[in-house]
Amino acid sequence: MEMKNNQLYMLVVFLLCLFLKNHFCVGLGADTMFANQSVSGDQTIVSAGGVFELGFFKPGNSSNYYIGIWYKNISERTVVWVANREKPVSDRFLSALRISHGNLVLFDESKITIWSTNVNSTDSSTVHAVLQDNGNLVLKNENHSPKILWESFDHPAHTWLPGSKLGYNNRTKSNQRLISWKNSEDPAPGLYSLELDTSGTNSYKILWNGSKSYWTSGAWNGKIFEMVPEMGFNLFFNFQYVTNANESYFVYYVKDNFTMSRFIMDVSGQIKQLSWLPKDSWNSFWSQPPQQCGVPNFCGAFGICNDKSLPFCNCLMGFEPKSQHFWDLKDYSGGCRRKTNVNCENESLLTNENDDRKQRFVELRNIIYKDPKLYVQLGSSAGCESMCLKNCSCTAYALNGSGCLIWIGDLLNLIELSQDETTGKTLYVRLAASEFGSSRNDEKNRGIYIGVFVGSAAGLAVFLVLVVILIWRPKNKTVGTGIEVEGSLVAFEYRYLQNATNNFSERLGGGGFGSVFKGTLQDSTVVAVKQLQSVNQGEKQFRTEISTIGTIQHVNLVRLRGFCSEGTRRLLVYDYMPNGSLDSHLFGEKNSNILSWKTRYQIALRMARGLFYLHEKCRDCIIHCDIKPENILLDAEFCPKVGDFGLAKLVGRDFSRVLTTMRGTRGYLAPEWISGVAITPKADVYSFGIMLFEFVSGRRNSEPSADGKVAFFPSWAASVTIDGGDVQSLLDPSLEGNADLEELTRVCRVACWCIQDDETRRPSMGQIVQILEGIIDVKVPPFPRSLRVFVDNQETLVFFGESSSSQS
Ligand SMILES: *[C@@H]1O[C@H](CO)[C@@H](O)[C@H](O)[C@H]1NC(C)=O
Ligand SMILES: *[C@@H]1O[C@H](CO)[C@@H](O)[C@H](O)[C@H]1NC(C)=O
Ligand SMILES: *[C@@H]1O[C@H](CO)[C@@H](O)[C@H](O)[C@H]1NC(C)=O
Ligand SMILES: *[C@@H]1O[C@H](CO)[C@@H](O)[C@H](O)[C@H]1NC(C)=O
Ligand SMILES: *[C@@H]1O[C@H](CO)[C@@H](O)[C@H](O)[C@H]1NC(C)=O
Ligand SMILES: *[C@@H]1O[C@H](CO)[C@@H](O)[C@H](O)[C@H]1NC(C)=O
Ligand SMILES: *[C@@H]1O[C@H](CO)[C@@H](O)[C@H](O)[C@H]1NC(C)=O
Ligand SMILES: *[C@@H]1O[C@H](CO)[C@@H](O)[C@H](O)[C@H]1NC(C)=O
Ligand SMILES: *[C@@H]1O[C@H](CO)[C@@H](O)[C@H](O)[C@H]1NC(C)=O
Ligand SMILES: *[C@@H]1O[C@H](CO)[C@@H](O)[C@H](O)[C@H]1NC(C)=O
Ligand SMILES: *[C@@H]1O[C@H](CO)[C@@H](O)[C@H](O)[C@H]1NC(C)=O
Repeated sequence: MEMKNNQLYMLVVFLLCLFLKNHFCVGLGADTMFANQSVSGDQTIVSAGGVFELGFFKPGNSSNYYIGIWYKNISERTVVWVANREKPVSDRFLSALRISHGNLVLFDESKITIWSTNVNSTDSSTVHAVLQDNGNLVLKNENHSPKILWESFDHPAHTWLPGSKLGYNNRTKSNQRLISWKNSEDPAPGLYSLELDTSGTNSYKILWNGSKSYWTSGAWNGKIFEMVPEMGFNLFFNFQYVTNANESYFVYYVKDNFTMSRFIMDVSGQIKQLSWLPKDSWNSFWSQPPQQCGVPNFCGAFGICNDKSLPFCNCLMGFEPKSQHFWDLKDYSGGCRRKTNVNCENESLLTNENDDRKQRFVELRNIIYKDPKLYVQLGSSAGCESMCLKNCSCTAYALNGSGCLIWIGDLLNLIELSQDETTGKTLYVRLAASEFGSSRNDEKNRGIYIGVFVGSAAGLAVFLVLVVILIWRPKNKTVGTGIEVEGSLVAFEYRYLQNATNNFSERLGGGGFGSVFKGTLQDSTVVAVKQLQSVNQGEKQFRTEISTIGTIQHVNLVRLRGFCSEGTRRLLVYDYMPNGSLDSHLFGEKNSNILSWKTRYQIALRMARGLFYLHEKCRDCIIHCDIKPENILLDAEFCPKVGDFGLAKLVGRDFSRVLTTMRGTRGYLAPEWISGVAITPKADVYSFGIMLFEFVSGRRNSEPSADGKVAFFPSWAASVTIDGGDVQSLLDPSLEGNADLEELTRVCRVACWCIQDDETRRPSMGQIVQILEGIIDVKVPPFPRSLRVFVDNQETLVFFGESSSSQS
């Protein structure tokens, strides 16, 4: 009966609304809910400008419903606030959000209050709730002072929106914190939270389970948080930190007012900033800690974390996820459990070395471990194993000098390093004897098959691989050149490249994507072999991507000859460039062969042609994303060839990597990298402009001065150029003034145009080619504002060299 009445009421309201088109109608786009209204079923409240919407939602495949606020106008349902995080309802038509006793209250199917704003309020019919265009839900009473009784911005969930304060209210003693969801299907408070440190340090921290801090923003110094230097380069957000006796908070705004941006405390344990790209996706362009494995206990007990592969977490050999469901939802915190329990009583009796069932340890190599329980000084390392065996609660041991480290109970925070990092240590984890099978009784198990080869299928797979290797080995002993694939690329075998590079002995250099080694092919061609790091793509996708890169051929681009893709190994084989990379010639020892002005000008022009080809002449436009002297290679005639193109796409647009290189020094990166907007070819134009100044000056764009501060040469160079100063004074002293003044002026002006903040003001690569060729003229450019910002912030910035940034 009541149902019927409700439906009748709703119908009447609906018809009334249609008829009157008034804005009091919940469910028809009204932004206000009055005391006589409710939100139930699929009804929603929509903010006045149509930006946000409030109503019941169901996260992922869960069957639970929650009251939440999400962006109305984007394709991907993105929830920014949840009312009943911990108490879902199952029937949204029988549940209702309404104003009751002056509060906003959520009633479940049985009309029981499961969530309320809980403010002292008179039961007044003038109380109403408004959803604002900034995402704030406000409970107001016009006849009351103050009018605002409650607002959702004071009670954030996991999202921090522009305009909302995140901090500590000293009068109500309430600390606003962002708390992650448990997983993508459960908005209940998870393990990670971000909050203001209330001990007066004026810094924010991320906590694990409300207590253990694993990241801090550093103190506010009036302009930026000290550990977040990239804030200093940001032109797209206004940040403000306020502290007084009443409250301390941090607030931010998006300058253009229409870019959708948000910070979230992610289920990954990282704080992330994202912006909505017009192409229908969230772009996560800032995250801390930058590496997933920097989040404590992320993979749970007996899990192992790897930053260079997906999924980040795996169970150790002999273990399986405690809950496969949560594991599939990327919630790894539950960790892993043994497939077979260690049976101490019986197994410790097995002392015979040849007994198959003797309890053993699996050896994990190149691991970072933490928090051993005990350190025991022993005479020999053999003692470690038996010591661990004797104590049933010992789960693992590691050798350490003449002693051993012992772990008791759960093993946490193990990190697996990749092949090219060799700083790891070895850990021995105890397994039940039966985990090792009974076929190998002669030698200790040496495998580090960490959860990748799980189950008995793994045994079969390994066997098959062995068979294949045994069968194929003799044939390919020395011949193995490889097979032709799409286009002109050669697929090499790993062993062949290993031979060709003399087991990767002659390192030519390294970059963001991996180390490069010199090699010689069978036909005596000298090549450069790049070992890619962190390629998260599958074999097929990798080959597709590579064959695209293989079709790109231009006299000013380094030619890709072939590749290798075996298991997790991904290598690229390029033409070898005898004169190495440009940086050594520009910034190296100045005594020997200085690049003449003529050569520099030619290099700049040809580089521009190579990039023009990449941007505009290929079938798919390729943005290089990493233009710098290290990636410009010189052949025997000093003809420049741009290297490393296409790789940014190959390894995914890894913004955290961009950020690590950006820390403290703007370098070659355009300001839009830090703003979260879409990256266009104009980002390469910016980097090219910075490089032009380096051609002129023969010095790096940023150099630490004696007091450790950064001097950003382009700022000075731009002001000299624009103010009509003496551009000769910018010239590399080792050129001794030998430069064509007209060319020099042209280069400086183009450079200034290239480094404009507004990318639409920057010329295209095609225009740059024409200017450098002298076909079109170049006017005096305006001064790029960001450089001024940089100059202003300069005194607050600490210099982080390449070496310190590449470690993290
Ligand atoms: C609900 O209350 C508001 C203001 O209190 C009033 O203007 C509106 O007409 C009422 N709506 C209904 C359907 O009673
Ligand atoms: C929801 O379930 C379907 C079918 O079971 C599955 O294909 C899909 O990936 C699931 N979605 C999420 C977000 O888990
Ligand atoms: C909603 O999206 C459409 C298409 O993306 C756009 O045209 C419209 O202006 C947007 N409306 C608002 C209020 O943002
Ligand atoms: C609400 O009112 C009660 C009774 O008047 C009072 O004891 C309580 O402190 C008030 N709470 C708040 C948060 O003001
Ligand atoms: C988090 O801390 C609470 C006590 O503060 C404890 O009961 C709970 O077990 C902890 N959670 C984990 C996953 O350790
Ligand atoms: C918070 O308020 C108390 C008085 O209620 C005052 O003594 C204290 O200094 C304030 N704290 C801050 C950080 O201003
Ligand atoms: C703190 O709050 C009191 C009471 O509302 C107010 O009078 C005072 O101006 C506030 N102080 C600051 C610094 O905002
Ligand atoms: C953005 O909004 C603020 C406040 O609503 C306003 O003061 C400012 O002028 C707006 N900025 C732009 C670029 O529209
Ligand atoms: C130890 O082994 C014996 C014989 O194999 C068996 O009967 C007994 O149950 C085992 N003890 C435990 C604790 O598993
Ligand atoms: C095993 O080691 C733990 C931790 O040192 C200790 O508390 C326990 O008594 C030991 N058990 C045996 C049987 O030695
Ligand atoms: C062994 O471990 C102890 C305690 O963790 C540590 O202080 C010591 O430096 C380690 N020794 C070696 C040789 O690693």
